[in-house]
Amino acid sequence: MFKIGVMASGGGSNFKAIIERIGEGDLEAQCKFLITNNGTCGAVEHAKEYGIPVYHISGKTHPDVAAYEAALLEVLDKYDVDLLILAGYMKALPVCIVRRMENRILNIHPSLLPKYGGKGFWGIHVHEAVIAAHEKESGPTVHLVSEEIDQGKILAQVKVPVLEGDTPEVLAARVLEQEHDLYWKTIRDYYNEMGH
Ligand code: GRF
Repeated sequence: MFKIGVMASGGGSNFKAIIERIGEGDLEAQCKFLITNNGTCGAVEHAKEYGIPVYHISGKTHPDVAAYEAALLEVLDKYDVDLLILAGYMKALPVCIVRRMENRILNIHPSLLPKYGGKGFWGIHVHEAVIAAHEKESGPTVHLVSEEIDQGKILAQVKVPVLEGDTPEVLAARVLEQEHDLYWKTIRDYYNEMGH
């Protein structure tokens, strides 16, 4: 049984999919906390439903950068998780966190990295760009988090077709469906590869 912590900002469907797999015993892990920068997001609702402690840490709650970073580090210290899972966390992680958890932070991105990653490629903009470029396929990538956004080692990808007439929203939904199956399996496999 290993320990994970999750960071999320949005609807939290990936977070929910992971905690459901834990609940079903498919992923032999415990989720110790949710850190969010958005106290009213869907992920918070899911955490409450499953009794997972929520920490709202943002530029609003902690306007001072040093205090903000200290608050994040305090949660990491308290729970000493094996892996930190970014599940739709829409803010760059402070370098001190990336270094502290080197090779132990995973992120999921809704394109086939290295394509459509980095600055400006977040949310629906990713899918808009994929469609505008007339790509024939897209799909989610799970990767390690490094100091450069979306450039860490790729752990897993799944391809989905981009179909004639797709809107960014339709493509986003097709990719998201795959994310829910890909993320928990990649977390499991990566933890095992770490030598456990
Ligand atoms: C997903 O598309 C993920 O790839 C990206 O943010 C979105 C999060 O969706 N990083 P949800 O909040 O898990 O529903």
